[in-house]
Amino acid sequence: MSFNTSDIPVGVVGLGLMGCSITTCLLMAGHPVVAIAPIEDDLKHAQKRITNHLQHSLEQGLVDHEPDFFLKNLQISMDYSALKNCRLVIECTIENEEIKKSVYEKIEKEIADDAFLVSNTSAIPISILQKLTKHPERFFGLHWAEPSHTTRFLEIICGELSDVKRGEELYELSHKWGKEPTLVRKDIRGFITNRLMYAMYREAFYLVENGYATIEDIDRACINNAGYWMTLLGVFGWMDLTGVQAYHNVMKELFPTLSNSKEVPKLIDDIVKEGGRGVTNGKGFYNYTPEQAKEIEEIFTEFSFDIRNLAMKYNKKMNR
Ligand SMILES: NC(=O)c1ccc[n+]([C@@H]2O[C@H](COP(=O)([O-])OP(=O)(O)OC[C@H]3O[C@@H](n4cnc5c(N)ncnc54)[C@H](O)[C@@H]3O)[C@@H](O)[C@H]2O)c1
Repeated sequence: MSFNTSDIPVGVVGLGLMGCSITTCLLMAGHPVVAIAPIEDDLKHAQKRITNHLQHSLEQGLVDHEPDFFLKNLQISMDYSALKNCRLVIECTIENEEIKKSVYEKIEKEIADDAFLVSNTSAIPISILQKLTKHPERFFGLHWAEPSHTTRFLEIICGELSDVKRGEELYELSHKWGKEPTLVRKDIRGFITNRLMYAMYREAFYLVENGYATIEDIDRACINNAGYWMTLLGVFGWMDLTGVQAYHNVMKELFPTLSNSKEVPKLIDDIVKEGGRGVTNGKGFYNYTPEQAKEIEEIFTEFSFDIRNLAMKYNKKMNR
């Protein structure tokens, strides 16, 4: 398919953490972007956050131009009518069906009937969200990983009523954003990566709550084990490298002992009920001073560029 991203205006609705990094990614890929702030609070930080992302991307060699070069293509507004010419609108508001529904109504009043409307939801099934829209066939999940302008992850998820052919168009387009997308042709709650990750989170809570290890020990084990191979090999590639037969043997004995709890763990429930939000307000599984919180965010930014470079170097060696 031959097309220029500069001919495809894209809208992003919701300018929180992810809306800002998605906007950055689309600007770097050459799209004109209309970024809608559904709440005034977004206006206070969006332009600054996007500019910072662009500046870091320049410093890290991801792009060759100063932020202003890309910002010329950005319009930030609270007025949904600015979305009129967009061929794709990415909803990126908080994980709340009622709010998402009211946002879809406002978007669909403005965009063409055949323009894409997609959601960055982490966990609400696409088959549910698309029924809140007038044209469910053009509705998809577009699930990004933070920071969206450096990660190559993207899940494109079809709901029951999505037109899979149009999902394939999104799949093509997303290569222009530097993504290595996965097209999930059949809707499933949590899509692919969240199903994998939540299975691991559940087991981590089980081990802590039952006194097998501390939070610190579990994080250290995960960083030093899975953290060393996952970026290169994924799940199945790792089993192949280290011997399929051994996994087969272990599964028979280990699976029956793994947690299959259906409850939200008490440990996280208590933290949330006490207002803990993690690094954002310094209260999570660990506590953070404002200085530590700032430092972690900065280190994570630096790390995300480095791991991207490392992954790309070795993917090339693996002919991927
Ligand atoms: N944070 C992540 O790593 C991550 C990863 C993948 C997907 N997501 C999904 O992306 C979406 C946004 O997540 P985020 O992390 O950017 O959240 P965030 O809290 O940083 O931003 C949420 C945004 O929602 C909008 N919003 C808030 N209240 C609203 C209201 N009353 N009406 C309309 N809009 C309102 C605002 O634009 C706000 O900035 C969610 O659906 C989330 O599940 C997040």
